Amino acid sequence: MDPQTLTELLDVTVLDRLDRIEDLPADELARSAALRKESYSAEVTAALLTQARLRKDAETKLGPFAAEMLFTRDGLAQATRLPVAAHHARRLLGEGGDGSAAMTIADLGCGIGADAFAFAGMGAEVTAVDADEVTAAIASYNLRHLSNARVEHARAEDIDVSGFDALWFDPARRQIGRGTKQGSTARITDPEEFSPALSWVIDQALAAKAAGVKLGPALDHGLVPDEAEAQWVSHGGEVVEVCLYFGAARQRPGRSALIMGERTLLVHEDNLPDEDEPGIGELGEYLLEPDGAIVRAGLVTALCPPLQARRVHPKIAYLTTDVAPTGPAAAGVTTYQISEVLPAKIPSLRKELVARGIGSVVIKKRGADIVPDQVRRQLKLPKGEQATLVFTRVGERHVVLLTQPVDSANEETNP
Ligand SMILES: C[S@@+](CC[C@H](N)C(=O)[O-])C[C@H]1O[C@@H](n2cnc3c(N)ncnc32)[C@H](O)[C@@H]1O
Repeated sequence: MDPQTLTELLDVTVLDRLDRIEDLPADELARSAALRKESYSAEVTAALLTQARLRKDAETKLGPFAAEMLFTRDGLAQATRLPVAAHHARRLLGEGGDGSAAMTIADLGCGIGADAFAFAGMGAEVTAVDADEVTAAIASYNLRHLSNARVEHARAEDIDVSGFDALWFDPARRQIGRGTKQGSTARITDPEEFSPALSWVIDQALAAKAAGVKLGPALDHGLVPDEAEAQWVSHGGEVVEVCLYFGAARQRPGRSALIMGERTLLVHEDNLPDEDEPGIGELGEYLLEPDGAIVRAGLVTALCPPLQARRVHPKIAYLTTDVAPTGPAAAGVTTYQISEVLPAKIPSLRKELVARGIGSVVIKKRGADIVPDQVRRQLKLPKGEQATLVFTRVGERHVVLLTQPVDSANEETNP
């Protein structure tokens, strides 16, 4: 969005029209015609339609607050989900943080303000900064009800951060217009091309009383400073970030994985067993797929003792066990009951699936050199039951496991 469109959008009557846009027909063409009839310019009409769409899209990340916020497409894509932002706030403010001590936090690259919203909502005095003029203005709008939050249009590197109790960084890791589609974004892989650059961010974080740095979950473990706690987070089954915590915000040095959503679990490096589990490569009754945050954190084997499980192969992140997972650690895996081991060659595999009345397959793979969509096309199955096929290695063998997902909720109630 350009600054001129934003200025027009911020007009009280236009904002009021945006808040009442659901009164108009849902069909975009009809909606657009109705707005034009009400004398809105083509530009303002387009901006209203875009904001209405973005507010809907934002509901999954920001819940009911989305209906009162403004966005850019890029700002929404990069915004932290609100429950995860609340977790960041708890870490920076301290577990018991109710904000009564009014900690001061600088959010240095605040985007549309999702993290700042959580910090201020939990009582901190927030200075939110963004280098992009339109994004900073939008953050200002989104934080308007929080008198303890203020927004500056500035570069993080130009801010004197020495007086703050805590610093928060969520460097931009996408380059607008670098993707394949027009206006799409491409991920930046070189941490020195993040904005601000990762080395600058880490220097500030190391010098701060407390700091948090949100990064992409694919972060090379070698880039995690010894002084930091690195926590990989998944929310609703999706790995969303790794966050580095420094100073007072660091609870336990080392790596951890936090699973958030309907099921919750915290797995820490300290939970890793001292020795390899017995029976690696011996297939059991169940296949366990560890949550992506646990895999990214390199903590898969921490699940072996509590789930009485073993790896299918020393280098593959699938576990196998003879007992259906129960207890807290069950939240760390998706469970599949293994019915059979099938041949990996497509013609024989197809024959076996057809003989069992299977017509639709979900394909999973680890340690197997296949392209799931290609395999599905090659199988050309007639209509039939659904099953999950897992292409992997068990010990030295390449195998295809015919499985059915186990509803973990049922498992919990029927031990
Ligand atoms: C990943 S987004 C932040 C998202 C935010 N945490 C949220 O939850 O909404 C990064 C933001 O940093 C801003 N930015 C990039 N370089 C910056 C710099 N040098 N100083 C300040 N802001 C910067 C970008 O404009 C972008 O809005």
